[in-house]
Amino acid sequence: MSNYFIKSFEEYFGIYRKSVENPELFWQEIAEEHFLWRKKWDKVLDWDFTKPEIKWFQGAKLNITENCIDRHLVNRADKVAVIFEPNNPEEKEEKITYQQLYERVNKMANVLKSQGVKKGDRVCIYLPMIPELTISVLACARIGAIHSVVFAGFSSQALATRINDSDCKTVITSDGSYRGNKTIDLKRIVDDALEECKNVETVLVVKRINSNIKLKENRDKWLAPLLEEASNECNAELMDAEDPLFILYTSGSTGMPKGMVHTTGGYMVYTAYTFKNAFNYQENDVYWCTADIGWITGHSYIVYGPLLNGATTLMFEGVPNYPDFSRFWQIIEKYKVNQFYTAPTAIRALAKEGIEPITPYDLSSLKVLGTVGEPINEEAWHWYDDNIGKNKVSIVDTWWQTETGGIMITPLPYITPTKPTYATLPFLGIQPVLMDENGEEIKENQVEGRLCIKYPWPSIARTIWGNHKRYKETYFSTFKNKYFTGDGALRDEVGYYRITGRVDDVIIVSGHNLGTAPIEGAINEHSMVAESAIVGFPHDIKGNGLYGYIILKVIGEGRNHDNVRKEINQLITEQIGPIAKLDKIQFVRELPKTRSGKIMRRILRKIAHKDTSNLGDTSTLLNPEIVQEIMDNAL
Ligand code: WTA
Repeated sequence: MSNYFIKSFEEYFGIYRKSVENPELFWQEIAEEHFLWRKKWDKVLDWDFTKPEIKWFQGAKLNITENCIDRHLVNRADKVAVIFEPNNPEEKEEKITYQQLYERVNKMANVLKSQGVKKGDRVCIYLPMIPELTISVLACARIGAIHSVVFAGFSSQALATRINDSDCKTVITSDGSYRGNKTIDLKRIVDDALEECKNVETVLVVKRINSNIKLKENRDKWLAPLLEEASNECNAELMDAEDPLFILYTSGSTGMPKGMVHTTGGYMVYTAYTFKNAFNYQENDVYWCTADIGWITGHSYIVYGPLLNGATTLMFEGVPNYPDFSRFWQIIEKYKVNQFYTAPTAIRALAKEGIEPITPYDLSSLKVLGTVGEPINEEAWHWYDDNIGKNKVSIVDTWWQTETGGIMITPLPYITPTKPTYATLPFLGIQPVLMDENGEEIKENQVEGRLCIKYPWPSIARTIWGNHKRYKETYFSTFKNKYFTGDGALRDEVGYYRITGRVDDVIIVSGHNLGTAPIEGAINEHSMVAESAIVGFPHDIKGNGLYGYIILKVIGEGRNHDNVRKEINQLITEQIGPIAKLDKIQFVRELPKTRSGKIMRRILRKIAHKDTSNLGDTSTLLNPEIVQEIMDNAL
């Protein structure tokens, strides 16, 4: 018998040892006993980090939706699979049972087929957090189409880049979305994007806000009438374990986002197993993750992980402060939520409101509190523990990435003793290592280094869509034979890990990964901007804020600087989305540069952090005198 559910710390250590001594055997047992395979694999794992090539369960055949839905119909047909809580608390919630989910996914799958979507085709999903989002994702998986969900807060240009990069011919969107007391015109954003996406043939439109939109003839179709006609039976396409399941874009250090490709078999096994153990999910629990399905957290821990375990997963369309700051706590009381998974930035924003919004609500159903997306500071951790968990609920600080597919370092609830700000110990089968600057592995404890993983796990992304070279360069070239995470970490005296943050050009703002390059690219398009450099600085709520140092061209002189600042943020909003707007903009005469012309971001970062006591040696700069000038005018 494999150890699908871990019950004690001793058991964790024993199974962990087994999982790293013989990973193939370990994963084979988990995979064999807990999933529905149409054909068994020929080989558990084949890998070579130098190519890099990673293949799990080669030769196996399956469909992930049979594992998420069909097999539960025997015992859980009437169990609620998805709870939908709308933005407006007066609108009635929706509860979708496994049987209903089966029918709705099949109908949607048949609609996609009727529109010519085939196995291997890419489908872009640009939807708010409504049931059709989950259903569309699963419908793609049902017929073997590769879904590419784009977070519905991205701008039309960001959407267009993603549609074109993976050559999607079909887009699923809605006539608009609700967000607090606002509505957002999603269809207009799609229309703008499609001006630049000549290969898109079909746009399926969900009616959500009843706005007065126009459908483009021969391209746009309302989804509802098509669904009505479609059959509620649809054979699940037989997929190879290594067939792509989805593409999800994440920011990188160049302007082009990276389309991380996840495949079917390994992703299924790993997300299911981590969900069960990291959240201690038991049969009648109600689980709620507040992320958006547009991010990896939503893919793995709103859709796939929970449904693979036959869980009840809650989707929330709205925002934490609408109608007021008690919304999360109201929802927890309303559905007696047992597991609550959110981001540190949300915790900090809610903590700022004090405890009045919380006290009227009964939060006693809570069993596990999770965090993800960025380092959680000690204050926020204690606030969460004291006020939401009332010091009785286990907190899991889960570290992982879009690229890793599932949770990598985390406490197991009620098993691993927690330590605020520490993600603690590796999950089963995960072998983290810390590397020093010379590329050597640091073996001892109480050290800090660059976090790498030295052995494959089933849900590692297999490539970057259309750019395997970039995949190799980004993740497998910095350290020989290791997957490099891009994060720094420290390991304490007992071997617990604390993630210290990114060591590359990615800045995490409110839990969202933002590359500096695309933001600088957007700024530089302003006709008055000569050059720019973006760094992060500590921000009370967002974790990191964005600080831009910008050189204006001579023609910028004499213009009102505040107007220029607004225009720059407007450009960023159009090209990337409002999440990437700059918090501070300092106009500078020059940027500090090395003699080879590289911007010294380290110095700019220190100035933005107001930590200028030790700037290091600046004498090797091309223009050392500019440093003092920038410091004198710092914001
Ligand atoms: C950061 C989100 C500290 C980290 C699942 C990582 C964290 C990046 C944590 C990935 C955590 C995520 N503690 N930092 N618990 N979780 N991060 O791809 O820098 O959106 O590399 O995946 O978020 O962000 P992504």
